[in-house]
Amino acid sequence: MGTDTVLRAESIVKNYPGVQALKSVDFDLLRGEVHALVGQNGAGKTTLVEIIAGSVPLDSGTIYVEGVKCDFLDPARSIELGIQTVHQENQLVEDITVAENILLYDLPRTSYRLFSLRSCIRAADQLLQQLGIDVKPGARVSSLTFVEKKLISIAKAFSRQAKILILDEPTASLDSNGKQALFSLIRRYSALGLSTIYISHHLNEIFEISDSVTVFKDGVRVSTRRTAETDVNTVIPEMIGRSSQSLYVRDKTARQTLAERSLLEVVDFHREGTVDHVSFSIRAGEIFGIAGLVGAGRTELAQLIFGVDQRESGSLLLDGKEITPRTPFDAVDKGIGFLTEDRKDSGLVLIQPVYENITLVRLVKEIKARIRSFLNPTRERSAAETVVKQLDIKTPTVLQKVINLSGGNQQKVVLGKWLFAGSQIIIFDEPTVGVDVGSKSEIYRLIESLANDGKFIIIISSDNPELVAVCDRIGVMRTGRLCAELEGNQITEENIVNHSLGLASAGKEEST
Ligand SMILES: Nc1ncnc2c1ncn2[C@@H]1O[C@H](COP(=O)(O)OP(=O)(O)OP(=O)(O)O)[C@@H](O)[C@H]1O
Ligand SMILES: [Mg+2]
Repeated sequence: MGTDTVLRAESIVKNYPGVQALKSVDFDLLRGEVHALVGQNGAGKTTLVEIIAGSVPLDSGTIYVEGVKCDFLDPARSIELGIQTVHQENQLVEDITVAENILLYDLPRTSYRLFSLRSCIRAADQLLQQLGIDVKPGARVSSLTFVEKKLISIAKAFSRQAKILILDEPTASLDSNGKQALFSLIRRYSALGLSTIYISHHLNEIFEISDSVTVFKDGVRVSTRRTAETDVNTVIPEMIGRSSQSLYVRDKTARQTLAERSLLEVVDFHREGTVDHVSFSIRAGEIFGIAGLVGAGRTELAQLIFGVDQRESGSLLLDGKEITPRTPFDAVDKGIGFLTEDRKDSGLVLIQPVYENITLVRLVKEIKARIRSFLNPTRERSAAETVVKQLDIKTPTVLQKVINLSGGNQQKVVLGKWLFAGSQIIIFDEPTVGVDVGSKSEIYRLIESLANDGKFIIIISSDNPELVAVCDRIGVMRTGRLCAELEGNQITEENIVNHSLGLASAGKEEST
């Protein structure tokens, strides 16, 4: 082992019931490098880093940290060895403050060795300011948004002098500002000798930030290369087993004849402090994107429309007829679907099997409509199996509990749920977070086919290339307002970014 190898994993094997997650994987991490792990959903990336982080025990194999064999790893031991992890799923303690979470392993004590919340908050505040994260250290984690929680997990990882930093999809639903802030942090610390394992499905991020890239497929390490010596056309086929040419491209030229279609009007949605009198309308068959920075009010708008939060004004009209939902149940009754960005909190029943999650919304609807005959457990299962095939959800059977699926496959289950629900209007909030490039294309194709079936589609996304690829029109939100609407050749990443930041005057003029 070279002296500059800070971590070595040798012949790592990990089996789960019905799944070989890692099949004898070797992996070396060099000092000061950013080493990217890529691969399809379920390829084994998270399993490998969770083993290194001590959260998951290995079946066989050896881990060396700085040349020393680690016979036993648990989370505390791994932190002692200088390994810090931002997990794919939120692992913060909800009922205590941000500050306590950040300093969980080094809570400051008073001279009587009592825990001091005040100095804890002071220390956390300093760190948050240093990292440029705008969250109150005294707030309870349970009161934070999804994105704020992610930022706090990142701050937590930077709270200790680490040798190895593991980032498992750190940018999932960070906007471009957040990503750049994180990248400059990573660069700063790499220069000081920190080694980083970076997992992401955003290949552009991989090529921007990493020094080497390792491809996983079905629990096997396929290749490791210097990033500078490879490119997407090499990496994608290794990941997904087919060429990058087969990825989704939407033909938008055929989409001109919508004018006489049904019209959905979103009229004057308002909630003080978050959403500022937002109106827009879309035709059946149209895909309407909502872009903007995190905190611009996009998810809040969707929640107002869906009846999650109280609104001060706002109505939803379908061909002039009022269908404004009073509650989320009412929304579902009225044929509105809402795929939330936060799958763990509101999207999934994690301890239930895959098939029950997929058929849940439809079942509730049918029970309400007293159609008892259609779905029974057998039909439910076979219906779910169809969805699992369509979305290529990696699971041994539809009886598997959702909690045991990889992150991206959980996201696909949420998507499956709404595809199966038969909604007429569907709001997707960050639909492909954590989803691999191959499956993304499949999801875009499915969304397009929903549109072609005459459904109304609204997609909220921080992934600007995704919006550009998929949407017919894009509304950009900033500080609660819909500040621009782009269509045709106005739809470019640059325009979206400029409007998001308030730098643009192109496109539809700002309404005051
Ligand atoms: N606790 C568990 N019980 C059963 N199977 C599991 C468990 N955790 C992971 N698996 C399975 O192990 C395989 C590898 O999962 P892993 O989470 O490592 O994938 P990944 O590469 O991180 O995928 P993603 O990109 O979707 O996050 C998957 O087939 C997954 O379903
Ligand atoms: Mg994962």
